[in-house]
Amino acid sequence: MAEAFNDKVLTGSKAERYAAVGGEIAAVLDGEPNLTARMATVAAMLAASFDHYFWTGFYVVDPEKPDELVVGPYQGTLGCLRIAFGRGVCGTAARSRQTQVVEDVHAFPGHIACDSRSASEIVVPVVDAQGRLIAVFDVDSEQPAAFDRTDVEGLEKILMATFAD
Ligand code: SME
Repeated sequence: MAEAFNDKVLTGSKAERYAAVGGEIAAVLDGEPNLTARMATVAAMLAASFDHYFWTGFYVVDPEKPDELVVGPYQGTLGCLRIAFGRGVCGTAARSRQTQVVEDVHAFPGHIACDSRSASEIVVPVVDAQGRLIAVFDVDSEQPAAFDRTDVEGLEKILMATFAD
């Protein structure tokens, strides 16, 4: 499953792979302003690039209910539809606007279990060029403690470059 897009095979360290897929995402999205197309492409290309990803996608801020997230483009098993700000890992990232890294989701107070196979999780707030929160990007892994500083830095950089520049 991993490394499947564009017949390219990503090699090297995890940091090098984030840099490579970031470049690929920027090239594919060049000139495409549609937000759904941008989010769908980011989710698909990142999900195809890393074996430790199990569920990969966006929860977007609902314009009708600005303190609620609603599921957006994703790759993986069926995701929960709505998450209130402050609830679970996604809602905590939305409210705090801080990236959340959770080594053991079962130990996280209020964690929302959409799929019981998820063991660890990273959620990165997504802001637009005006600094407004537009979504969070959520990756779940079946492996415990799957995400580290390299994932934080790699994802924050790609999401800033794709949605805030
Ligand atoms: N686990 C998340 C919910 C979203 S899913 O895992 C797809 C949370 O606690 O915010």
